[in-house]
Amino acid sequence: MKRSRSSLVHQLTYAVKNPHKIIPHLRRLARDTWFRLRTRDHIGYYRAVMRSDTARDPEGAVGSHNHRRWLAVGRMQFDYLVEHGLKPECRMLEIGCGNLRAGHLFIGYLHTGNYYGIDISPDILMAAQDTIVRHGLADKLPHLTPVRDLRLAFLPDDHFDVVHAHSVFSHSPLEVIEECFAHVGRVMRPGAWFDFTFDRTEGREHQVLREDFYYRTETLVALAGRYGFDATFMEDWERLPHKQSKLRLTKRPPA
Ligand SMILES: C[S@@+](CC[C@H](N)C(=O)[O-])C[C@H]1O[C@@H](n2cnc3c(N)ncnc32)[C@H](O)[C@@H]1O
Repeated sequence: MKRSRSSLVHQLTYAVKNPHKIIPHLRRLARDTWFRLRTRDHIGYYRAVMRSDTARDPEGAVGSHNHRRWLAVGRMQFDYLVEHGLKPECRMLEIGCGNLRAGHLFIGYLHTGNYYGIDISPDILMAAQDTIVRHGLADKLPHLTPVRDLRLAFLPDDHFDVVHAHSVFSHSPLEVIEECFAHVGRVMRPGAWFDFTFDRTEGREHQVLREDFYYRTETLVALAGRYGFDATFMEDWERLPHKQSKLRLTKRPPA
């Protein structure tokens, strides 16, 4: 069972076992407090985190601490989605596309114009443009759009076959996830699916600073159900070398 990372006992045990992580954690704590005081809401806060991290290293900002890992995590997402239904003719929306760690593979595979990436961070979207240039993907005309929220109001009804969000809800409070569930169904075509990863806990739900959020599977399945989705826990994803779990949502057919 994955243990709660916010309990004091857990934190102290972890600190004793990992003394080299104490100073970096205190630095994160100081930054968290500073950004929290300077921003109004979670999105503003997380955009500030991304600005600071992207300035240092765009690949580190999306969670990969070296280029080999950046390529491998992108490849893992891509291969999995192709094995689970993605076809070149699909229209795809990637929520929280970052600097296109997986997006550069999706763009190369999908028909021209069929990839749509959105992100709350303008800084990481600039880095995404660099990825497009580096990988020679300009002719594929990918769409990259900064967003303020996940209401998706500027996107058309019944448009996307696939929606993908990797390592986004692991950084999102429940109200952000709920906003997404409340609106994403509108832009999905009949038969479309929405895959997302999340940090799973089997114990108490909790967060580490404002950056990392841990949910029970049942919480997300029940929330998705309230917005007309059926959820499937992707068991075979658990076998891959990645710490997060994955759910697939499909729209429940009208009764
Ligand atoms: C850990 S990175 C992962 C990026 C990409 N999915 C990947 O796998 O490389 C999380 C990304 O989600 C974005 N993000 C976080 N919350 C978001 C939200 N509510 N709406 C859209 N993007 C969000 C961040 O700016 C960041 O680029």
